[in-house]
Amino acid sequence: MYAIAVRRGEGSPTLVEKPRPEPGPGEALVRTLRVGVDGTDHEVIAGSHGGCPEGEDHIVLGHEAVGVVEDPNGTGLSEGDVVVPTVRRRPNGSNGYFDRGEPDMAPAGRYHERGIDGAHGFMAEYFVSPAEHLVRCPAAIAELGFLVEPASITEKAIEHARASRSAFEWTPESAFVLGNGSLGLLTVAMLDDAFDRLYCLGRRDRPDPTIDIVEELDATYVDSRETPVDEVSAVHEPMDFVYEATGYARHAFETIEALAPNGVGALLGVPGDWEFEVDGGTLHREFVLHNKALVGSVNSGVRHFERAVESVAALPEWFTDALVTGVYGLDEFERAFDVDDDTTIKTAVELGSL
Ligand code: NAP
Ligand code: BGC
Ligand code: ZN
Repeated sequence: MYAIAVRRGEGSPTLVEKPRPEPGPGEALVRTLRVGVDGTDHEVIAGSHGGCPEGEDHIVLGHEAVGVVEDPNGTGLSEGDVVVPTVRRRPNGSNGYFDRGEPDMAPAGRYHERGIDGAHGFMAEYFVSPAEHLVRCPAAIAELGFLVEPASITEKAIEHARASRSAFEWTPESAFVLGNGSLGLLTVAMLDDAFDRLYCLGRRDRPDPTIDIVEELDATYVDSRETPVDEVSAVHEPMDFVYEATGYARHAFETIEALAPNGVGALLGVPGDWEFEVDGGTLHREFVLHNKALVGSVNSGVRHFERAVESVAALPEWFTDALVTGVYGLDEFERAFDVDDDTTIKTAVELGSL
């Protein structure tokens, strides 16, 4: 079968041939339909995040997958079920995080991430997975199933942000999403019903398709070059919820000043090393005197995927049509990784059809 992989140190994806995997006990064989591409894939390709499975010189890419069960192999699944795989897998050794069904809470070294770190990904014509890591998805949304994994990232972040505000009556009205990449835009759409007023941060000039999407969602576009994050409460309003999806390290700290009293910020970006000065006294005081919270959130588990299936099914068709700017077959898979184009928002590689 064909797979798309990156060889260590090469910096660009390539087509490789591998044997079709055989499911082991408790595993199902899945025929892959589509696999999405995100910023993390570009970091894996560049060699700045994750790494190859032990003893190998390449990693098969892809962690945002949807497929159809080809061989349930005695698991509770049925042939023909459309499924979405979670990302983290158990490395050798005992592991309470996986035993408890909380692999997304495991610290570094206690997990592999398929397509990212230490385990081959799903960008292959077939993959096998323990059935416990496969979440059923209605066939009606199979073509959009590759959006379930990124949506699950947002489901987890919202869950953790809400949990941090669960000790009192929290009735948020305003939300500010930092970042107009695919994760930011997907999140604006997912928050649409839950907040009265939505804002989304970018740094682009009009006309721009991401700004069009933001405004079509009735959200206010905030240009960080005109209104830095720490000035948004003065220019617009203090935010009950901030969702950071830029990976721009200053935003983590500026978020504290963007928040309303009792507000919470969820940090999702994964920045590189970057030193800068902050006014620690002001930020510390803001946290304490206004009961503010920041939560970091990474990865997601089965329950977040289950919620994400519902969220993706509820997305308006005009939105997914505008968000997904290209789905490419194996004969032109390189186009799914093309980043030199401001009209590209979310892409996927198509490896099969229902
Ligand atoms: P992306 O496509 O690179 O999107 C980032 C967006 O942020 C881009 O549109 C970029 O604008 C914008 N941006 C960056 N700096 C900005 C600034 N100073 N002011 C305004 N806008 C700014 O990445 P993505 O796939 O959407 O993911 C977003 C972030 O979340 C990444 O850091 C990724 O690593 C992280 N992530 C984390 C998790 C997790 O589990 N925690 C999961 C998925 C992704 P331009 O396009 O104009 O440059
Ligand atoms: C993936 C997560 C993963 C994170 C860190 C994200 O792009 O969606 O599943 O945990 O990167 O590697
Ligand atoms: Zn991702």
